[in-house]
Amino acid sequence: MSIKIGILGAGSIARSHIRALSKIEEAEVVSVYDINGEAAALAAAEAGATVAESPNQLLNNQQIDAVFICVPQFARGDLEEMAVQRGIHLFVEKPLGLDLDIALGKARLIEQSGLINAAGYCLRYYDTVQETRRYLQGRRIHLIQAHRFGTSHPGKWWWQLKQSGGHLVDAVTHQVDMIRFLAGELAEVHAHFGRASLTETAPESTIYDAGAISFATASGAVGSVTESCVSPYHRGSEIKLFGADFFVHIVNNKTITIIDAERNETLTSDQNAMYMQDLAFVQAVKNGRQELVCSSYADGVRTLAFTLAANQSAVEKRTISLQAGEVQM
Ligand SMILES: NC(=O)c1ccc[n+]([C@@H]2O[C@H](COP(=O)([O-])OP(=O)(O)OC[C@H]3O[C@@H](n4cnc5c(N)ncnc54)[C@H](O)[C@@H]3O)[C@@H](O)[C@H]2O)c1
Repeated sequence: MSIKIGILGAGSIARSHIRALSKIEEAEVVSVYDINGEAAALAAAEAGATVAESPNQLLNNQQIDAVFICVPQFARGDLEEMAVQRGIHLFVEKPLGLDLDIALGKARLIEQSGLINAAGYCLRYYDTVQETRRYLQGRRIHLIQAHRFGTSHPGKWWWQLKQSGGHLVDAVTHQVDMIRFLAGELAEVHAHFGRASLTETAPESTIYDAGAISFATASGAVGSVTESCVSPYHRGSEIKLFGADFFVHIVNNKTITIIDAERNETLTSDQNAMYMQDLAFVQAVKNGRQELVCSSYADGVRTLAFTLAANQSAVEKRTISLQAGEVQM
């Protein structure tokens, strides 16, 4: 029996999920909703699904087992609560919102419901990232250096800080999440952001064009993330993790190099992270096994907490502690 899926929001990420889900035998996209009827119709045609007239109509537990919430973060409203109330399993795209208290409230409700849930941190599913996580278990990291340059989004909403949260909250959240996945919880953050280029080139935008974020982990490592959405001649991401007796280097999320006294090895994943992620979610729903999901909603909220705290740190010009209750569940 296939898992029947509804999709809320029919933009670029929804189309990626539709393509991934079409390759999963146990999954069937049956319904799509978007405030833009044309976008909904195109996505529904690709999926062989029907167009729902409203989120209310789509979130019908007689017709769907699970929902993929793919509307931008400013438009999440109470979609998660509606799904939970109707007993519908939920996959929610990252970032999980723009207000930590709201996301925490949703996380509590989802945890209490016992429904299968996932946040869209797809990079966790690469076999190379999983291998790096296994390698780092029990090893002491003292320094983390990460960067991501040159990603942006065509949507008008993305360029407004109040709608996307900016490049760190929306995009570099993947690298922050990978750092948490590999190195454990983040305890403190201090950030600087600027708009030196965008003030000239896109004065109507309100996001930052560059960020320099420093942090400490709960285990005592320190690190930095530098990022810019404006970098036409140099794009990509890297994460370097340094220990006294090893070095781990992750390039563009899926190529890893591990160096220590016995090993000097580089591996590139040939997996499609979106497919692996959607497959894990569908199998988790089918078998009632939340542990197949690499990032639960509640886990994703902790990544959100760090990125929102970075934004707050820059405004308030102070270090923010994440252990002071911000991400307590
Ligand atoms: N996991 C990833 O790697 C990844 C990649 C891209 C985007 N995303 C996330 O997915 C979300 C959507 O991004 P996107 O690239 O698809 O954006 P998009 O602009 O391409 O599409 C957004 C769609 O949502 C619709 N929409 C807006 N408000 C709505 C509402 N209230 N109800 C229903 N539909 C609504 C729009 O009409 C549009 O069709 C964002 O949160 C983004 O951060 C994740």
